[in-house]
Amino acid sequence: MDKNEKVNELARRRGFLWPAFELYGGAAGFYDYGPLGAPLKRRIEDIWRQFFVISEGFAEIEAPTIGVEGIFQASGHLSGFSDPLTGCKECKEIYRADHLIKHIVEVPDALSNEEIYKCIQENEIGCPECGGELSEVYEFNLMFKTMIGPGNKMAGYLRPETAQGMFINFPRLLRHFRDSLPFAAVQIGKSFRNEISPRQGVIRLREFTQAEAEIFIDPRDKTHPRFDEVKDIKMKFYSQAAQERGEPEEMTFGEAVGRGVIAHQTLAYYIARTYQFLLAVGVAPDKMRFRQHKSDEMAHYAADCWDAEVFLDRLGWIEIVGVADRTDYDLKAHTAQSKVNLSVFVNFDEPIKRQKLVVKPDFKALGPRFKGKAKAVGEALKALGPEELKGDKIRVMVDGETIEIESSLVSCESVEEEVRGEEIVPHVIEPSFGIDRILYTVLDHSYYEDAVDGETRAVLRFHPAVAPIEVAVLPLMDREELVFPAKKIQEELRGLGLRVDYDTSGSIGRRYRRNDEIGTPYEVTVDYETLEQGTVTIRDRDSMLQIRVPLGQVADKLQALLCKALKFEEAGTMVGPAKEE
Ligand code: GLY
Repeated sequence: MDKNEKVNELARRRGFLWPAFELYGGAAGFYDYGPLGAPLKRRIEDIWRQFFVISEGFAEIEAPTIGVEGIFQASGHLSGFSDPLTGCKECKEIYRADHLIKHIVEVPDALSNEEIYKCIQENEIGCPECGGELSEVYEFNLMFKTMIGPGNKMAGYLRPETAQGMFINFPRLLRHFRDSLPFAAVQIGKSFRNEISPRQGVIRLREFTQAEAEIFIDPRDKTHPRFDEVKDIKMKFYSQAAQERGEPEEMTFGEAVGRGVIAHQTLAYYIARTYQFLLAVGVAPDKMRFRQHKSDEMAHYAADCWDAEVFLDRLGWIEIVGVADRTDYDLKAHTAQSKVNLSVFVNFDEPIKRQKLVVKPDFKALGPRFKGKAKAVGEALKALGPEELKGDKIRVMVDGETIEIESSLVSCESVEEEVRGEEIVPHVIEPSFGIDRILYTVLDHSYYEDAVDGETRAVLRFHPAVAPIEVAVLPLMDREELVFPAKKIQEELRGLGLRVDYDTSGSIGRRYRRNDEIGTPYEVTVDYETLEQGTVTIRDRDSMLQIRVPLGQVADKLQALLCKALKFEEAGTMVGPAKEE
């Protein structure tokens, strides 16, 4: 078994990830999170909240997972969120047409369907299964469609991204943030994409979890007040230019902005925060890089995008986060679709003085001529601009009727006015995280093997902050005199909110091994010295060393160890390597 197979086998066997619907034959692209996978996922999401809700002050919202048609007409997902397909005329198997020419064309995404089909024909590409002739290339929209309510009257779509929930709530969010920029809202939730042939476990799912932040900024100011906090962090940047050269460049975020590698501070700041978050959940820094999208692979809404990519065994470099500059694309598109103005009035630092043309209709002359309509005619004249006031005759439209008036009945005056600010459409920076991919990366990057007593020991070296079980309490033997104090310790630790497992089955060595492979950072063992001396052992998963700690200090010591406020060697009396059999 290679590492990829080992990680997947462990994840299935120990209850992290289960292929969904197994009882009914399964369906590709759906996974269940088991008793260890669900808490691992929840803890990763909680760390994300700590970064992007608590620390940044962003607002977390929760919108429906089904959206109405207008949203996706505006967002471009109805017209543009599709993959090119081709089918075998013989065996009827369906394929991503662009994937079939990947070895011939460097960026198949840039080709039209006709061009892809031409390439298939010219290179005599047949069905990968049976060699049969392939059909013309057609588009397949990746959104799941449903009907809202009975009678097929209203179409609904399972959302392909959580982002739209933030865009369509923009006016209410703006009010929540007291009408001033910048502000941001986030969602952690399910999104759905009817992928063509998802085959890579949780890397490509049809139902998956996103954590997305939509940060609304004033486009005239792309600096970030906290950029100094991240400017000295070093990172491997694989910019468009670096990709041309074939080698990522290492530099600080400060240098990256200074040299124009990253377009502006705000984008760079959120790329840096993404990096810090990924480190905090246990992604290996030496298997991570940030790659800029090439212009022909950018999503339809993005002007710039940097992916956090990780190196995974067998799968290679995989995108797990995208940090995109969506500009004003979405707000403008929803303004056009909904006819609701999604702009912000932004005050100038100081009000400015401006000359304004004021149109003055001669109401004394208009009154007798237009009678009841005179007021409406006057208002229509006032709304005209300088161009429309040129010439001998002026035309206005009132109640659907074109009315002609001599220019002598209208005078114009230039007056000075004070202007406090202007309407702008905010731009959006979007860090978008694929939680399932991040979770799989944490499994892959944490997986480690060593040899103990001639046997292979498999370990998930989880950071304690994500470990689904933080402490295992193990009586040396399943005997009343040891079980009683062990259960008391378990109760005390659970009372403090720790995730504790209690295990009496099998030899102590087997129990250590079982906990190592699910990533439990510490095991507390209750033995006969506990009864004689009032101490227990705490074993460290990674070093397999043990310390002895008085019963009354176990909880405090474990809490300090788990949040890395205390070094293991300093937490108790060292008793050396644990007895591993
Ligand atoms: N919101 C970005 C994405 O779903 O890819």
